[in-house]
Amino acid sequence: MTKIEKIVLSYSGGLDTSIILKWLQETYGCEVVTFTADLGQGEELEAVRAKAEMSGVKDIRIVDLREEFVRDFVFPMLRANALYEGQYLLGSSIARPLIAKHLVGLAREVGADAVAHGATGKGNDQLRFELAVNALDPSIKVIAPWRKWNIRSRMQLLEYAEKHRIPVPSDKRGEAPFSIDANLLHTSTEGKSLENPAEVAPDHVYQRTVDPVDAPDTPEIITIGFERGDPVSVNGKAMTPAALLTELNGLGGRHGIGRLDLVENRFIGMKSRGIYETPGGTILLTAHRGIESITLDRAAAHLKDEIMPRYAELIYNGFWFAPEREMLQALIDHSQAFVSGEVTLRLYKGSASVISRASPCSLYSADLVTFEESAIAFDHHDAEGFIRLNGLRLRSWAARNGR
Ligand code: ARG
Repeated sequence: MTKIEKIVLSYSGGLDTSIILKWLQETYGCEVVTFTADLGQGEELEAVRAKAEMSGVKDIRIVDLREEFVRDFVFPMLRANALYEGQYLLGSSIARPLIAKHLVGLAREVGADAVAHGATGKGNDQLRFELAVNALDPSIKVIAPWRKWNIRSRMQLLEYAEKHRIPVPSDKRGEAPFSIDANLLHTSTEGKSLENPAEVAPDHVYQRTVDPVDAPDTPEIITIGFERGDPVSVNGKAMTPAALLTELNGLGGRHGIGRLDLVENRFIGMKSRGIYETPGGTILLTAHRGIESITLDRAAAHLKDEIMPRYAELIYNGFWFAPEREMLQALIDHSQAFVSGEVTLRLYKGSASVISRASPCSLYSADLVTFEESAIAFDHHDAEGFIRLNGLRLRSWAARNGR
């Protein structure tokens, strides 16, 4: 095995990464620094410090990355209206490059030659972590214990924990928990009964949204302000990115917005079924399309929609820090210069619908489109010629076909 001097571990304090911590210390006999990010997963992070201390970690880093996450990762992605396979808002995909960036930064700071993560060999997350590390600092090695050790099952994992006196939460001794990944953008739940896509997901998998059936019978009207493509206020109140997304998660969750039961294609090659809850993100996607509808030129909007699936796939597959994602981002960002104004939405029993939109930079012209008499010169004969020329080749084609 290659000699490793110091490792920075992406550490959640959960059972898996606690075992990984012990395994790294034993296997490499070197110092392990733990890195834990607050991405709004809603867990008590000070408890993580105590756990790391108990495992003999000297250098424990716990960092609040909520603002950076939303400002520099979630919002740029929302500018593109990114959806993977038409539906997934990429809540886990977009968090990994941020964590990887900080793992690399910390490795450089403390002079570590490797970083480690707890993603398994079957998922997308290993790709997102490792491709990001490759792109940011090729000199840093990546250790993925799940692909290296000979622990092959949940049972063996628990045995290892017992042997090394790593506390196993009592609910994890009996039934295995779902595999959950949460942050300010979403909660993702996979595994167990969800692995059968023919089986309906049990109600208790949902954590941050109510069932739309149980949502309030009265709709709630909200207004979101945008500046240059990014949301900046809710109901006239200016908010930081993380505060704004937190606020919309509360509103969306109460109205049962943003639930998704999806079978998706993983980059590694298999299909998987997951339950996603993205309340605030779902509201923002609808609102952003609403403000774009009056501020973007048609061809600009259509070009954005053409590249969107490609852009979303890059993020899903782990290429956030790749040159082609940055090139597409430059195009998307450029398109947002006039995407400013206000969108009003109605939240009601699982849906967020735009009910009005307004912008000082609007391209919408009531005078031009009106069914009434208009002051703007629009020669109806121009439309006749426009149709005649567009129909020219169709008339030739139909005549040839003998229709
Ligand atoms: N399938 C989702 C993705 O690839 C989520 C992965 C992490 N979620 C989890 N529950 N372990 O982005």
